[in-house]
Order: sequence, then structure tokens, then C-alpha cells
Amino acid sequence: MTEVETHAIGASVPRIDGPAKVTGSAPYAFEHRLDRPAYAHLLQATVARGWVTAIGVTAAQALDGVLFVLTHQNAPRLSSDRDRELWVLQSGQVWYRGQVIGVVVADSPEIAREAARLVTVEYQAEPHEVRLRADSQYLYKPQTVNPALVTDTAEGDVEAALAVAPVRIDATYTTPAEYHNPIEPHTTVAVWTGAGEAGQLTLYDSNQGASRIAGQLAQVLGLEAGQVTVISPFVGGAFGSKSRAKAHQVVAALAARQAAGRPVKLALTRRQMFAGAGYRTPTIQRVQLGAQTDGTLIAVAHDAISQTARFKEFAEQTALGTRTMYAAPHRRTTHRLAALDVAVPTVMRAPGEAPGMFALESAMDELAAACGVDPVELRLRNEPELDPETGLPYSTRNLAACLREGMRRFGWQHRDPAPGRRLAGGWLGGTGAATGTYPVYPRPGGSRACVRALAGGRYRVEIAAADIGTGAWTVLTQIAADALEVPFTMVELQLGDSRLPAAAPAVGAMGTSNWGSAVIAAARAFRAQHGHQPAPGDQATAADPANRSAGQVAMHAFSAQFAEVRVHADTREIRVSRLLGVFAIGRVINPRTARSQLIGAMTMGLSMALHEEGVTDPRFGHVINGDLADYHIAACADAQDIEATWIDEHDPHYNPMGAKGAGEIGIVGVAAAIANAVYHATGIRIRDLPITPDKLLA
Ligand code: MOS
Repeated sequence: MTEVETHAIGASVPRIDGPAKVTGSAPYAFEHRLDRPAYAHLLQATVARGWVTAIGVTAAQALDGVLFVLTHQNAPRLSSDRDRELWVLQSGQVWYRGQVIGVVVADSPEIAREAARLVTVEYQAEPHEVRLRADSQYLYKPQTVNPALVTDTAEGDVEAALAVAPVRIDATYTTPAEYHNPIEPHTTVAVWTGAGEAGQLTLYDSNQGASRIAGQLAQVLGLEAGQVTVISPFVGGAFGSKSRAKAHQVVAALAARQAAGRPVKLALTRRQMFAGAGYRTPTIQRVQLGAQTDGTLIAVAHDAISQTARFKEFAEQTALGTRTMYAAPHRRTTHRLAALDVAVPTVMRAPGEAPGMFALESAMDELAAACGVDPVELRLRNEPELDPETGLPYSTRNLAACLREGMRRFGWQHRDPAPGRRLAGGWLGGTGAATGTYPVYPRPGGSRACVRALAGGRYRVEIAAADIGTGAWTVLTQIAADALEVPFTMVELQLGDSRLPAAAPAVGAMGTSNWGSAVIAAARAFRAQHGHQPAPGDQATAADPANRSAGQVAMHAFSAQFAEVRVHADTREIRVSRLLGVFAIGRVINPRTARSQLIGAMTMGLSMALHEEGVTDPRFGHVINGDLADYHIAACADAQDIEATWIDEHDPHYNPMGAKGAGEIGIVGVAAAIANAVYHATGIRIRDLPITPDKLLA
């Protein structure tokens, strides 16, 4: 422990929440012990568009143990329809199949579920469209793309440059709807105490940010901020699907009010998570590259189509990575959305970059083959001096170092460039590479932290941060220990509770940066006010400061991904025998938890490459394979040799830790590296994810 105690940042400190998790004593949302809980089960629409015309609840209510059924016919009115996803049980309108149209509350989860089955619903169905197509009549140009970025960019004359480029690539890539599927389902336990203006709502909830969820719930329910408390000390994964409030939290709150003091526990079933819990939009992406014969890019065009719900817009930033990745005088990115009768897509680990870089980095591999240039060398030849998008210098851009380190570790220099000719024991072997990037958003997250002196030279650090499995409990303790210049063991952290100083949610790979900056600011304020010999009870609170480098430098994380695959010559079974990711993510605060995040995300990238595909039935509008048996997620047997490493980087511009962000970049580029390796193995280019054996047999 001596290294840990003298210098916490950079040390591989084991998770401080580890023992509680492995012994089962860490309370996840559903597990908080409360007196006489009631259990809720959601009712869902079985048409994709139309109106509920009648609901029969007599049989359900007659069941022993049923407390009540709430539908739009008897639910209390909500205060704000600003977010129509939260405007639940307010009318009979159905926007998508699986939409919440009611809730049954009973003495046990089994009774609630059985009663839900007994509710009869009649609809006035209307024609629906759930298919994303490049020629969809519902395409439009959104005003911005997530999160408030410009929809289209253009520089130079792409069409003219493409017309005269000696080498051209013009290909369309597609990616399917993907579902987050964290281990812990979306769960909330709602408790009302008091009434009227003295009423208090408490949610024990699985989410990515207690402060944000509390604020959203207060707004939709018409409550003061102080009337809603959200408690979320442990969260079993999220990947973006728990970043904002969803219908189930509002329903649980309404049900708890009706339950008159009894806590109401509501957990989505796995199947329900395929309906209203968010998903990654499918995409159709056309990439055009124009280059000199040596592979130097002249023109890059990336035109992306994705989908949104008709009743609420989410515009994925699919082509964002292309804006900063390579130098070229003529460049264009565009985004179009089809508004369909579907649930609202949302952010999912590296929203934009994950599907977008699959397209760009597949196209770059196609360009390498067309030019006869090594694919890694092609990337190095197109490294920009300045950020192509803004013309600003980069805070740090160490993509070339990632590529060179990856080549060395992976043994890339011995690669035979010809595709489809390494057959051994009935398996075709191949290797592929791709780059990744993820933006570093230079904006303060509105996070505050409080440092408090305890007895015996100990300190308590309070911040409503979220640990969604990432290691925030541990990493923020490390940052606090260094900032206070005390041993790691002298700091006790509190997070995951909206009564603590408000904090930004765990999104955009910004959590550690926003929260760590707030913790350091609070520690400095504490030392300035109370010195090094404080009295117990002394305290100081501060917020993460504005970023002084914003607008001065371009800030992005970068990575290089290398994949080795074996494809069975007859069955076309695909095995990923090796994955190596090399990252430039600023200073790594805890190598143990950072590596865990990175290899987890790379595994998710493998899953995206080979397995994950939500299939929607166009006739009925539901996800056909909405369970973990039919929607396969990479398991241990799929993950073989996966390694993540990083180059020594300290970014001085983003935050006082020198860190960038590690949560999302690990998935970016993995699917392209695997697709490129499959091409190298077989000579077959698959442009439609996931890469399944049937596509290699066709
Ligand atoms: Mo992350 S996908 O921004 O929650």
C-alpha cells in the first residue's frame, strides 16, 4: 500500500466497493430494504401506432393481492410535457409498440405480473412504419445532432474533387439497432411521504446521475427540487440507457403516490428493456473517399442516415468522428433522420463514433487495398497537423504513437498484405486495424463537491457522482487524496445521492473529469480556508471551473485497434483470436479500473462486430429477438485474447488531472478492425453489421 498511500493518482488501487459487491451486500436499486413494499408491473401497447379505446381492469382488480391499476383514464395529471417520453399515462395515444400504457400494483411481483396479463385493451390502430430505409419518405434534416452539434459540415468542393481523384471509394455501410442490456435492469423503488407541499418523493433508482434524474422527475411531477431525492449508490451498468429519466420512473412515482405511503418497487423485465429503455439507432452510411495513388486523401464525404421516434427527436452524431480524423482539403459530413413509429433511440457507448467509425475505417481499409498501401501506413500518411474541423491545434493528438505502438506489440510488420490466403487447419487467418476517436468536451459539468474534516485527520468528500461500474468510488477517492495531500485511506467518499452536492451525470466519458475537477477545486478551497490542521466539522464546497482552453485547442482522445480473426473455411464461423487496443486518453488515474473499462468496451465492440442486432418486425413493430437468448451479447467464450494498453500522455488542457476520458473510446473502431481482419482472412468485404457466417457464404 505504500505506493498507494504516497501517490494515489496513477496507482492501481483495487475497487473500494469490490468487497461489498462480491459479498452481495452492496444495495442495488431493487434491494434497498423497505417496509411492506408493493410491486409494480408495466402494461405495454401491443400496436405500433394508434389509440387505446378501452381498458378492462375488472378481472385484474379482482385478483387477490392487487392494489390498483393505473392507466391514462385514472392517473394523476403531470405538470410538464416538455419531454414526451416522460409524459406517460396522460392520453390514450400510442406512439410505438411496447409503450407504457398502464401499471398494475400488487402485494407481490408475481401477482402484479399475472394481473397485468388479465387487463384487456382495445385499440384504434393506425398504419405504422418502423423500417429505416435510405429512401424513406420520413427523412428530414435535424436542426442539430447530439449533443447540440452542427448537423452538416462542408469544406471545399467534395463532388468536384471526387470526380477527378485518381483513386475513389464509394460504399454504403449499415449498422443495426443495438440494445444496451446492462446486467441490472432499469429499476426504481418509489416512496412518498407527507402530502401536498410537504410531500417528499424518494427514488432508489438505477441511473447515471442522481442529480439529473431528481431534477427531471421534479419537473415532470410539478415538484420543487428539494421534494425529490434520488439514491443510487450502486448501479449495475448503463452504457447510456440510464443517462436520462425514462417512463418507468415517472410511473413508479405516480404509483407510489397512489399507494399512500407504501413503497413501490418497479423493475423492467429483460424483454421490457427492449421496448422503452433506449437503444442505439440503426444507421445507413455512405462514405466516399478520393485519394492520390499513394493514398493521400483529397476528399472525404460521410453521409449518415439514422432514425428517431415520431414523438420525440434523438439525432445521433454518426459522422462526428470523420470531422476530426483525417486531413483532406475537401470534406463533408451530413446527418438525416427518419421519424418512425418506434421507441426513442438514445446515446449508447460512443454514440456516433461507434457506428460512424465502423463506416469510415472500413472505407479506409478499402482505400488501402485499392492503393496497395499498408492500412496502418495509410492512416499515418493522412495525419493532420491541425484539427481539420476547427483549424485549431490539438491539445494532444497521439494517434500516430498509438498506431506505431500497436504495430510493434501486435507484430504487424510481418503481415502479408494479400487477402484470403492463410489457411491453417481448416481456418483462414487475417488481421485488421482501425483507428478510433472520441471527443473531449471542454465544458464544466456543473458538478460541485464538498470536503469535510472528520476526527482523527480523516476527510469526507461528498459529491452526487455516479459509479455505474466504472470505478468512480475508487478513482474519486484517489483524486481527493492527492488533492488533500493525505493518504488514500484517510478519505471517505460519498456519492450516488441527490442530497449530496449536485453533480453532472456519468455521460460522454466526462464523469471523472467533471467530478475530479470539482473535488480538486473543493480540496483547494478547503486548504485555503482551513489549512492543514483543520478542526472536525470544517468544510468547503466548490464547483468544477470553466475550461480556460475551450476554443483555443481541439480536444479529442484517440486510439488504434488491432484484430486477428480466424474464419472457418467451410462453415464461416468467425473467431476473434486477438484484440489489441492502444489508447491516448491522457493520464490514467487508475490503471486497474481504466483497463477494465477499455477491455469491457472492446468486448462490446467485438459483440457489435459479430453478434448484436435488434430485429424489428415490420408488420407488428416489436423487437422479435428481445431477450438474451436471441439477442446474443459476446460472452466469455467469444472473448479470447483482449488487451488494452495506453501511451504515456498528460493532457494539460482539459482538467487538473491531465486525464481525458476512458468510458467510451474503447468500443470505437473495434468493429472496423474486425471487419477488416475478416476481409484480410477471406477476401470478402462485409459492410453490414453484424458479420455473421451466412453473409460470408453468400
Ligand atoms: Mo454515455 S453513451 O454518453 O451515457
